[in-house]
Amino acid sequence: MDSIKVFAPATVANVACGFDIFGFAVDNPGDEIILHKSTEPGVRIKAIVGDEGRLPKQAERNTAGIAIQSYLKHIGSDQGVEAILHKKMPLGSGLGSSAASAVAGVFAINELMGRPLKQVELLPFAMEGERLACGSAHADNVAPSLMGGFVVIRSYNPLDIITVNTPDQLYATIVHPEIEVNTKDARQILKNEVSMKNTIIQMGNVAGLIAGLMKPDYDLIGRSMVDVIIEPVRAILIPEFNEVKQAALDAGALGCSISGSGPSMFALSRDPETAERIGQSMRSAFRAVGIDSEVYVSGINHEGPRVIG
Ligand code: HSE
Repeated sequence: MDSIKVFAPATVANVACGFDIFGFAVDNPGDEIILHKSTEPGVRIKAIVGDEGRLPKQAERNTAGIAIQSYLKHIGSDQGVEAILHKKMPLGSGLGSSAASAVAGVFAINELMGRPLKQVELLPFAMEGERLACGSAHADNVAPSLMGGFVVIRSYNPLDIITVNTPDQLYATIVHPEIEVNTKDARQILKNEVSMKNTIIQMGNVAGLIAGLMKPDYDLIGRSMVDVIIEPVRAILIPEFNEVKQAALDAGALGCSISGSGPSMFALSRDPETAERIGQSMRSAFRAVGIDSEVYVSGINHEGPRVIG
C-alpha cells in the first residue's frame, strides 16, 4: 500500500466531572488525512484544507506532522511521507480538533507501514500532538479519538486507558458557538488548589457517572454530570453559559457542560429526537445574544479512526 485516506472522530473531553480523565468520541465531525509514501525521507505536509490558512505546514509544528514524525522515529524508519490534511471541524472549538488530526495521522502511518504497532500503542505519539498544540499532553481527546467509545484515563504515568461500555441509546448534542477559546489559556485560568469539600463532591460524580453508564441508569448519568471544580471557572469564557445550559436541561437533556476546554457545550440525552431538540434550544439561547452556532448530534462513536480510501 502506497497511500491511504483516514478519518478520525471529534471528541468530548472531561464529560463534566472528569477533567483530563474522561472523553468520548462522536460520529461527526472529524478530520481526514491522506498520506502518500515518498522516496525522499522526512514528513512533508503538502496541503491543509479547511483551516483558512491558520495551521502550520511544517511537520514539527503541526499536530498530525509531529505525531507521524515521532511514530517513525520510534519504529526506526526513515520512510518519506507526504500528507494532505482536511480539517473538517473548527479550530479552538473544544471538539478535540488537534487530537483528531494527530490520531488520523498516526493511525494512517501505522496502516501504511503494515501495522507494526497495536492501536493502543499509538497513543503516546498522538499525545505529542497535544503537547505541541497546548503545552500539555492530556489524553482525554486523543484516547477516545483513537480507541472509540467512552474512555477513562485511570493513570497517566504509566498510561492506563479503560474503555467503558455506554448504553446504545445515548446521544450527544454538541453546540459550537462562533467564538474561540484557546486550550492553553483555558488551562492557565484554573486554580491549582481544590478544597476537600469539592474533591469529595467531584469524586462522587466521577464514580456515579461511570456506574450510570455501565448499569445503565440514565438518571444517575444526569445527576452525575456535575462539575464543581472546572466548569465554574471556565464558564466565564462562554457568553450566556448558564442560559444555554438551562435551555438544554429544559429541552430534556440528562446533563450539560463544557466540551473539553470550550467554547463548545455538550449535552447527553437518550433519543435522537430529544438530542436534536436540545441542539435547537441551545442554539436559540446563543442566538438571543447575537452569537451564531453550529449544532452536531451523534451517537457515541465506538470505532475510532477508520480507513476511508
Ligand atoms: N481536558 C482538557 C482540558 C481537554 O479541559 O483542558 C482540552 O480539550
